[in-house]
Amino acid sequence: MQDHKGDLELIITKDGSHSLYNPALNETYHSTHGALQESRYVFLQQGLDYFISQKDVKEINIFEVGLGTGLNALLTIKWAKENGIKVNYHSIEAYPITTTQAKALNYAQIIGGDDVENWSEMIHQLDWETEHVITDTFSFKKINSKIEDYTLMGSIYDIIFFDAFAPSKQIEMWGLDILSRLVESMKKKAVFVTYCAQGQLKRNLKELGLIVETLDGPPGKKEMVRGTAS
Ligand SMILES: C[S@@+](CC[C@H](N)C(=O)[O-])C[C@H]1O[C@@H](n2cnc3c(N)ncnc32)[C@H](O)[C@@H]1O
Repeated sequence: MQDHKGDLELIITKDGSHSLYNPALNETYHSTHGALQESRYVFLQQGLDYFISQKDVKEINIFEVGLGTGLNALLTIKWAKENGIKVNYHSIEAYPITTTQAKALNYAQIIGGDDVENWSEMIHQLDWETEHVITDTFSFKKINSKIEDYTLMGSIYDIIFFDAFAPSKQIEMWGLDILSRLVESMKKKAVFVTYCAQGQLKRNLKELGLIVETLDGPPGKKEMVRGTAS
């Protein structure tokens, strides 16, 4: 994939929240049925809420593939504060959006609150490759790299937010090569969540030893996938 970020178009999804459209790929950053709704359901509800329902923890390490608009990170900062759980969030992004593109997004307005506005700015303005303390329950590191070129640490993550472009647009992101490195970075009982429920993805995750569940998708999408490391 080439760096087409300059061509990104701001769009409004059906729940009123923004997303970005990449014309070169003919692909959006979120479900057009609702970006906020999708992030909350797939990553917070089926990822974070599920994880703490299974494991009594005070600290969670997350690795996200595709920081993009920063929506998942923003919602997770709020979640960590509300749940009183410390989250260490690492997010990789090969083609960061520009400051102007980030400022146009309406997430902070919709979610509401001065804190959210500040967090939203911090997500995009903080330096890359540095661990930042955003709140007393959230530390954040952005990694500006292609996932293919990045060496992940072994067995340290509790949750993987896999938010790459769809397999029909970027097939290499969903292959065994990248998935195996992500699975190796997961602790026992860690969970991998994604909005996609493609058959080949499920077979790949099973081949890598995860217990794979096909769950109902967010509104407008039939299914999603969660994998758990045994
Ligand atoms: C579905 S979008 C991002 C969604 C994002 N979590 C959000 O809420 O906006 C996929 C993201 O993956 C990034 N990406 C594409 N290829 C990548 C690669 N090889 N390594 C890391 N990130 C990549 C894209 O630039 C894009 O930001």
